[in-house]
Amino acid sequence: MTTPLIDPFQRAISYLRVSVTDRCDFRCVYCMSENMTFLPKKELLTLEELDRMCTTFIGLGVEKLRITGGEPLVRRDIMTFFRAMSRHLDTGALRELTVTTNGSQLHRFAADLVAAGVRRINVSLDTLDEDKFARVTRWGRLPQVLKGIDAAQAAGLRVKINAVALRGFNEDELFSLTEWCAARDMDLTWIEVMPMGDLGNEDRVGQYWSLKDLRRTVTENYTVTDLAERTGGPARYVRLEETGQKIGFITPLTHNFCESCNRVRLTCTGELYMCLGQEDMADLRKPLRDHADSDAPLQEAIRAAIGRKPKGHDFDYSRQRADGQVVRHMSHTGG
Ligand code: 5AD
Ligand code: SF4
Repeated sequence: MTTPLIDPFQRAISYLRVSVTDRCDFRCVYCMSENMTFLPKKELLTLEELDRMCTTFIGLGVEKLRITGGEPLVRRDIMTFFRAMSRHLDTGALRELTVTTNGSQLHRFAADLVAAGVRRINVSLDTLDEDKFARVTRWGRLPQVLKGIDAAQAAGLRVKINAVALRGFNEDELFSLTEWCAARDMDLTWIEVMPMGDLGNEDRVGQYWSLKDLRRTVTENYTVTDLAERTGGPARYVRLEETGQKIGFITPLTHNFCESCNRVRLTCTGELYMCLGQEDMADLRKPLRDHADSDAPLQEAIRAAIGRKPKGHDFDYSRQRADGQVVRHMSHTGG
């Protein structure tokens, strides 16, 4: 038995988020600029390398994998990777395989995801208004995403909606989004917008909407029960008695979750970020590519990286500029 991954603050690392591509078919204003330069193919981990990387992490005790991007479902042949990961579900080493998607390709892949053992997915959707959707995603079209969500539910996937809270943009949809999700038996999580992407230049969309305010509005209009459950991440949940659904609040800018952090993030180039809000990372591609016949150097590099996982992040909106700003885009580290 190998010893599990424990960081310097005694947190067990059991959750790996993997970005499989930096590309996306949308250009959400808070995530990307209109003209993105994407990575050349040779920089990316191949599907085989992604497999080896994830399999090594699972060997070290990772029990939950979330596949992200960019938009993970636009990566060529990505279902081969999902099918390969399902062998770890079969052995029980992996307890959950999930994906965060913008929904644009779900109508094509929902059934394949189920066949690969995926049971729950997160779909990012900020508005139910077609024009607003086109504005915030720049390239996205709402009907396609709605068709994808239909396909996912028809295939038996449990869908959770993630909405980025944007003042003056989807503030007025708080109730309609809640009720729409409730009618479809979907939980809904609000995400506080983080200082990334092109937000500063897009004054039509995207003011900071504090989840404290949002949460108060929810509490004033529904009967809410706080749920104790913790995911090890920045989400807190309440249940709405009226609808029965769970509403989540992800406040990455507060520090109240760092102490229970159980996750690390792998980029599509094989960099391991130990914290979403810090620049420090470890290059895992080199030990992987340099040693085709042994995983030991890779394991050692992973342990060394976990050994310097920081206590928390430095995001801070309280100053004039978005302080603690991280220059890389969300599509690089994965959402
Ligand atoms: N702030 C908050 N959430 C973001 N996402 C992307 N960029 C940001 C940001 N700047 C979210 C998306 C999606 C996931 C991939 O990350 O909305 O839910
Ligand atoms: Fe694509 Fe998601 Fe970023 Fe939007 S937020 S551009 S859908 S990766």
